[in-house]
Amino acid sequence: MSASVELLPFNRPHFSARAQDYIRESMSSGKTSGDGPFTHRCHELLQEQLGVGKVLLTTSCTHALEMSALLLDIEPGDEIIVPSFTFVSTVNAFVLRGAVPVFCDARPDTLNMDETLLEGLVTERTRAIVPVHYAGVGCEMESICATAASHGIPIVEDNAHGLYGTYDGAPLGTFGAMATQSFHETKNFSCGEGGALLLNDPALFERAEIIREKGTNRSRFFRGQVDKYTWVDVGSSYLLSDMLAALLCAQFEEHEEIQARREAIWSLSLIHI
Ligand SMILES: Cc1ncc(COP(=O)(O)O)c(C=O)c1O
Repeated sequence: MSASVELLPFNRPHFSARAQDYIRESMSSGKTSGDGPFTHRCHELLQEQLGVGKVLLTTSCTHALEMSALLLDIEPGDEIIVPSFTFVSTVNAFVLRGAVPVFCDARPDTLNMDETLLEGLVTERTRAIVPVHYAGVGCEMESICATAASHGIPIVEDNAHGLYGTYDGAPLGTFGAMATQSFHETKNFSCGEGGALLLNDPALFERAEIIREKGTNRSRFFRGQVDKYTWVDVGSSYLLSDMLAALLCAQFEEHEEIQARREAIWSLSLIHI
């Protein structure tokens, strides 16, 4: 007879009583499609907590990255600078539009993009720099922002892992023109599958709403700014269900206790990487 071995779970999502109440509320309201009341609460909470101009919940971080490539009008032959150590979505979102990835080697200490190599990778075809705050550890944003600004190149921060993390006192996700978040089950804040696009450049706000709403101006229609909505641009179906936003809403409200609990568990472990 073999002894049964209990494996430690790789991750355990935090679904509190409040999250369960919110899910029930969403179900009984019947309003479970995108951009419902919980989505709006999530947008307002993150905008306030992080100090970003606009937040849009999306179906995943992969999709938020795809939206950023559409917003930047990436075309075949454009180059984007990405870290050589990341998840596939960071690169695929741009390769899907025909971009050529230019890989920046990693720093040995953080494994993030080595900012000292960046200048040498910029060419006249560079259309974006995409730093990834791997495992929530901030990239060297002062130097990355300076290089990007000196060439007029937009930054898209892939902050899939780093919600509420900081660099030099400022929240990750607030340095680039745009940033993306993941709420996949494996992340500290999760709703199974989900993401967000954070927009720091007001010039991108309106088109981002349109791209997220299948290329229509439906958001303007809901605000009473047009009397009917119509097809105005390219886009796809990037709205998160409001039922999943209900889960996120509870977690954003409880983020301090969720992080304190994770830190307490981390402090107990013998190996710290
Ligand atoms: C760095 C990074 N970017 C993007 C993603 C994609 O996230 P999602 O699963 O929400 O699409 C991941 C997923 O783990 C990731 O690690």
